[in-house]
Amino acid sequence: MDKYLVVGNPIEHSRSPEIHTMFAEQCQQQLRYDKLKVDEADFESAVRDFARVGGKGMNVTVPFKEEAFAIADELSEAAQLAGAVNTLSFQQDGRILGDNTDGLGMVNDIVKRLAWPLQCKRILLLGAGGAVKGVLLPLLQQKPAQIVIANRTAEKAKDLARRFSNYGDVIGLGYAELENQAKFDVVINGTSAGLDGEMPPVPAELVDSETAVYDMLYAKEATPCLRWAQALGVEKKSDGLGMLVGQAAQSFKIWRHIEPDTSPVIEALQKKS
Ligand code: ATR
Repeated sequence: MDKYLVVGNPIEHSRSPEIHTMFAEQCQQQLRYDKLKVDEADFESAVRDFARVGGKGMNVTVPFKEEAFAIADELSEAAQLAGAVNTLSFQQDGRILGDNTDGLGMVNDIVKRLAWPLQCKRILLLGAGGAVKGVLLPLLQQKPAQIVIANRTAEKAKDLARRFSNYGDVIGLGYAELENQAKFDVVINGTSAGLDGEMPPVPAELVDSETAVYDMLYAKEATPCLRWAQALGVEKKSDGLGMLVGQAAQSFKIWRHIEPDTSPVIEALQKKS
């Protein structure tokens, strides 16, 4: 049976094996998908060992996405621009292909499942770390009117905007400069502030009941970002569970050449948690 693995540290709470097992059932694919915790120094040997025993593919999560990027023999455009790899594919000839499906997973979740179009919309993207870097290319490929990246460290947002300026209208700024902005159609939170129970200081005037708010984080209860949106009367809001399932669906597609339907899997996970 074809073997797959998700590797990270920590990995105990990873839902990837459940998700891929549900995809395999849905698509009638025979495969085995496990999780493996790896120490910081052992990532490369874990990858090579798995390839040697015939592993077909690997998902890579925190903190190994940059190392996976370095190990891959060939990189997709998404992986190159993200500077990070979450999906490795082991070829017959021994080559390792690296891809990054986080961004497309999120964009599909927003545009297809939630049916919030991004074309010609003004998007506020919060944060300028790895999560945001990974979603910028697929977001810009939706041809939004503009993406404004806002970050606590303004310089990081400006740097990212410069790096992606060939792909569309994108600017970077600090939260203080948001005061001068007009309303946004879509707000996407890609900061890790929610892990500390916080929401970045976004002026309330920038959203209204028509604005859609997406938090890349997910949790059993509403995240701080979604509580913020709720308090402002926002109706269209979602956490990042669909992004998690969406990136998994794109990895599955790379490996198995068939794209699973994410909706039933998201519903099943929501019921379980
Ligand atoms: P990830 O890979 O999850 O993106 P990261 O690269 O460490 O993690 O980036 C975390 C992001 O969340 C950064 O944009 C960070 O802002 P800084 O670049 O200024 O550090 C942002 N962040 C974390 N905690 C925050 C908080 N309490 N308020 C606002 N932004 C926060």
